[in-house]
Amino acid sequence: MLNRNYDAARLHTLDVAHHLPAQSSYAEHQRMGGNRIITRAAGSTVYDIDGEAMLDGMAGLWCVDVGYGRKELADVAYQQMQELPFYNTFFKTVTVPPIELAAKLVKLLGGNLQHIFFNNSGSESNDTVYRLARYYWQCKGQPQRKIFIARRNAYHGSTTLGAALGGMTYMHAQHGSPIGDIEHIMQPYHFGEGFDETPEEFGQRAANDLETRILQVGPENVAAFIGEPVQGAGGVIIPPEGYWPRIDAICKKYGILFISDEVICGFGRLGKWFGFQHYGTKPDMVSMAKGLTSGYIPLSATAVSTEIVETLRAADEDWVHGYTYSGHPVSCAVGLKNIEIIEGEHLVDRVKDVLGPQLAKGMARLAQHPLVGDARSLGLIGAVEFVAEKGTNKRYPAEKASGVVVRDACIARGLMVRAVRDSIVFCPPYVITHDELEFMINTIHEALDEALAKLQE
Ligand SMILES: Cc1ncc(COP(=O)(O)O)c(C=O)c1O
Repeated sequence: MLNRNYDAARLHTLDVAHHLPAQSSYAEHQRMGGNRIITRAAGSTVYDIDGEAMLDGMAGLWCVDVGYGRKELADVAYQQMQELPFYNTFFKTVTVPPIELAAKLVKLLGGNLQHIFFNNSGSESNDTVYRLARYYWQCKGQPQRKIFIARRNAYHGSTTLGAALGGMTYMHAQHGSPIGDIEHIMQPYHFGEGFDETPEEFGQRAANDLETRILQVGPENVAAFIGEPVQGAGGVIIPPEGYWPRIDAICKKYGILFISDEVICGFGRLGKWFGFQHYGTKPDMVSMAKGLTSGYIPLSATAVSTEIVETLRAADEDWVHGYTYSGHPVSCAVGLKNIEIIEGEHLVDRVKDVLGPQLAKGMARLAQHPLVGDARSLGLIGAVEFVAEKGTNKRYPAEKASGVVVRDACIARGLMVRAVRDSIVFCPPYVITHDELEFMINTIHEALDEALAKLQE
């Protein structure tokens, strides 16, 4: 293990002076005297520059599925860098790892998802999806099919297109939403938006909003619908049973491309390799990133159906899209090895059969707490949502920032979770142990006790 003697004070000074962290207030960054510096990690635990340990309830940022300290992933990157650190796929050339990884991915995806385009991030994958869908419809002689339909409170990335496709109003507010022909419909957020309905009724109502919007804008103008199987950044919104089959059926009814954004749900997070497999839908394209390399190196992939690729082949011209690092050999070699680890250690089954049920049991316990309005999980992703009045979905006033209060109480106890509005969300690595997961639940419970006292002040 590296054991460097870092000069913490110097690094904090430089951090404030020169480094701009993601999705942050730079005034707060300055007030804090710089961000907490994480220097090493092992298994499911990260350590900061002062040696403080934190159980990583967020798997980095929804990505370090196989846990930290995997020498195999470092070795394969080292070997590939020595043999061939880079070559492109622009010049009628390709390297070995992207071919092997594409072939591996289509086996995991199954069905008609037989082709893979590589990118570097989830946002870039969604750019690929968008450009490909629009070009596909041009090739089909229906260039007026331009509209993308997404959901409110969806997250599809932070490029201009990713933010526009996403339904995060606070992102639109800062930059505008300069890309047209994007429509946002209801999200399947039962606790927040359908409290008085049964989950099934609400799920159908939320799905039917897609059909309503398609009919409003004209089915002949719609290119695609995009959605996350479970909305992660939006607060772990787990749709009611029946929602996804209905969405899938509506897309098929109007001949609209169905795109599953699996950047968080892919690679076992819900207990199947992909979220669409859990829900039994048949997407035409799939975006994946994060868990593809367990975050060890940037890489994303866009799976594309045979029908779409055959249409492009029939057009018989260059599709003018691609990134310098599309199919980067080092990233793809790491992706392959990462999948080998997930398969070899049966981690998807571990999520479904061992960790998922343990988390669900923990959530049932947390649901009893007076501060908790809803505690939900699927596979190894979950959220706990806070209310001012038990048995209702009435929130504390926004300025009380209940999510932040609980999150900070967790972090103070050595557990990293994320705050989303009046909730905390979590998605630990698939290698989290039984005892660590118990620690996570117990810590959240203690944090809730502390937060309740604070919120009632
Ligand atoms: C569902 C989903 N899509 C896309 C993205 C964007 O991925 P990236 O941050 O790698 O661009 C994210 C990131 O969290 C995501 O959760």
